[in-house]
Parts: sequence; structure tokens; C-alpha cells
Amino acid sequence: VFGHLARAPEDPILGVTVAYNKDRSPVKLNLGVGAYRTEEGKPLVLNVVRRAEHTLVNDSSRVKEYLPIVGLADFNKLSAKLIFGADSPAIQENRVTTVQCLSGTGSLRVGAEFLAKHYHQRTIYIPMPTWGNHPKVFTLAGLSVKTYHYYDPATRGLNFQGLLEDLGSAPSGAIVLLHACAHNPTGVDPTLGQWAQIRQLMRSKGLLPFFDSAYQGFASGNLDEDAQSVRIFVADGGECLVAQSYAKNMGLYGERVGALSIVCKTADVASRVESQLKLVIRPMYSNPPIHGASIVATILKDRNMFHDWTIELKAMADRIISMRQQLFDALSSRGTPGDWSHIIKQIGMFTFTGLNSEQVAFMTKEYHIYMTSDGRISMAGLSSRTVPHLADAIHAAVTR
Ligand code: LMR
Repeated sequence: VFGHLARAPEDPILGVTVAYNKDRSPVKLNLGVGAYRTEEGKPLVLNVVRRAEHTLVNDSSRVKEYLPIVGLADFNKLSAKLIFGADSPAIQENRVTTVQCLSGTGSLRVGAEFLAKHYHQRTIYIPMPTWGNHPKVFTLAGLSVKTYHYYDPATRGLNFQGLLEDLGSAPSGAIVLLHACAHNPTGVDPTLGQWAQIRQLMRSKGLLPFFDSAYQGFASGNLDEDAQSVRIFVADGGECLVAQSYAKNMGLYGERVGALSIVCKTADVASRVESQLKLVIRPMYSNPPIHGASIVATILKDRNMFHDWTIELKAMADRIISMRQQLFDALSSRGTPGDWSHIIKQIGMFTFTGLNSEQVAFMTKEYHIYMTSDGRISMAGLSSRTVPHLADAIHAAVTR
């Protein structure tokens, strides 16, 4: 009965890893998926995560019962504090409802399903470009997806004018997806002043912000600084949605741990929203897994562990920043044609190199370097040892 099915293409991001795994070259390099690697090119489990797991394993009172539909209560409370700030009026006034979800993607999906069911506007504006999974998540949840200008290929920076014009002409009430920090794939973020203008425009038109916060701590190395965009919106008392992921900032990729928060106007509305979120979640996956959320809660509630986490997080962010400098220097010393200063200007895990899909295919074929076809490279996958190989490949691709 399935004989008529065509073979579906691999995922544009995760499929890069599939291709990489098949390559037998000793110099192969995976700069596709946004996953942190050490200088030795190995995945990293944070020391603080190991410690938290140790604590959990040694606690014989812990059981494997089902979590409530909305997840682990401590985890939800602490996640809201992390993104909104401990002194957030929205938290103090109980206007926030937070539910544990399956990492960033699951949080976006639950939020989108909720909006498709209960919000009067079913159009969501996403930046152009954006993470490849965004349009799929929103479309399958029943929202209609439109784009707004974001990136300017000429300057390899923000097309702020285009962004303001597109949001200015969006229908009143439309949902707008915003990357809280470290925009994926471009590494280009608005300044705080520009965020203030975006907020003013969106609130004046009644546009509903839906933040995707997948890199808190990864852009600047500072958790509070990377939450500023969200906090600017929450400070005005208006509504917003936030999807949080702990995949990158705690290195908990495969644990699938994240949260969806919805900031409401009153505590009563927030509790009714939560009751409806439960109706979205229960038929989807019943209730979320316990282990990853327990690790996060253990770290967030212990002052020492929290402190140690911030140190390890900063070290990851700093290593990525140093990779930017090293790649930029390597291209400069090769005299590679073009302006490569965007490599050091862009922030977060990715550099949007400006290389086209043909150049990317050439680098994969000749140099065994794997990256997404839009020219995005994960700086977190690079090391001092592999920078020269990448610089050689880029040089060859642009001078061919
Ligand atoms: C990425 O963009 O590489 C990450 O967010 C991983 C993913 O799931 O695509």
C-alpha cells in the first residue's frame, strides 16, 4: 500500500550529517549542523551537566513516574526566570505560563498549534532567511507563513529598512517570529536601539511576537545580555510567546529539553491559556520526558552549579569568537578575494559566508567540507587545526 511513495529528500541541515557520515576521507569536516565541538573536534558534555546527572543518579528518592502534561514544575519556573529575568514583573504578577516541551522545535510547534486553534490571526511572518525548519513547523501546525526582509546580501548585515517596511504593512494582529539572539543562519542581530524600534512598530500595529530563543548565552557569552530583546517586549506589559531550547547552551541536544512560555495580560488569562496548552500537548505526546528537564532544573536552582555553567558557556562562546578571528586571519593571509569582515562581525554559532551552492558543492567534493547549501557554516564545528583546511577550500572556491 506504500509502493506509490516517492523517496523524500534528506533534511537540508540534518541530511548534511548523513552525507558526512558516509564520507571516508580522513580530512572530512562537518560544519553543517549547529552542534558545539571541542578543539579536538569532539562533542562536549559540560562538566556541570555531568555533576547534575551524578546528583540525580545518587538520589534514591527519584522515581520514573509520568510528569504532569505541562512538565516539571521547577524546570518551568526556572526557565521563565532565565529568559525573562528574576525580577520580571510578568513573573511576579503570575502573567506567564510556561510548559516544558521537546526542545526548541517542540516548543515552537506547541505554540503554533495553540495559536492556530485559539488566535484570531493565522498568519505568521518569518524573517528571510530563517532556520529551514521554521516554515515547516508553522505550516504543519496550520498557520499561513509569510516572510519579512531581514538580511541584506550586499552588506551581509541587517536590512532594517526592509524589515520595518514589511512589518509596517503586515495585517494588524499578525504573528511575527523573531530570533531572540544569534539569528540562524545569518549571525546578524538588530542592535538594542533597533529592537526598541521594532517593538514600538509591532505594538502600535498589534503584531504578536513569537520569539525563538535557541542561543541564550551563545551570542555574547552573557545570559542576561542575550535575553534583552525578549525583555524589551515583556517590559511594556504586552503579550508574547517564547520558545526556549537548552540544546546549545547546556549542550543537551539529544535530551530534547525546552520550554514554551506565553506572557499574558493577567494571571487569570495565563491560567486559562495553560489549561488549553494541556489540550494541545496531551494528544501530541502526552507529557514530556523527565531526564533532561531534571538536569536543567538541578543546575538552575543550585547557585554553584549555575555559576559553573555560566563559565563553561562563556568558554564555548569565546572559542567560537576565536574561530571567527582565526578564519578571518587565514583568509586575509591567503589574499582571498572579497571582503570577509562579516566573519568577525556576525555573532553566535553560524557564519553566513556568502558562498553560493555551487561553491559549497565544490568544497564538499574537493575538500570534504560539509555545510548547508546556503553557505552557512557552523563556527562551533571548527578548530585551530581545521581552520587552514577550510580557508584553503574557501580560497579555491572563490578563485576557481
Ligand atoms: C541547526 O540549525 O543546525 C540546528 O538548529 C540544528 C537543527 O535541528 O537544525
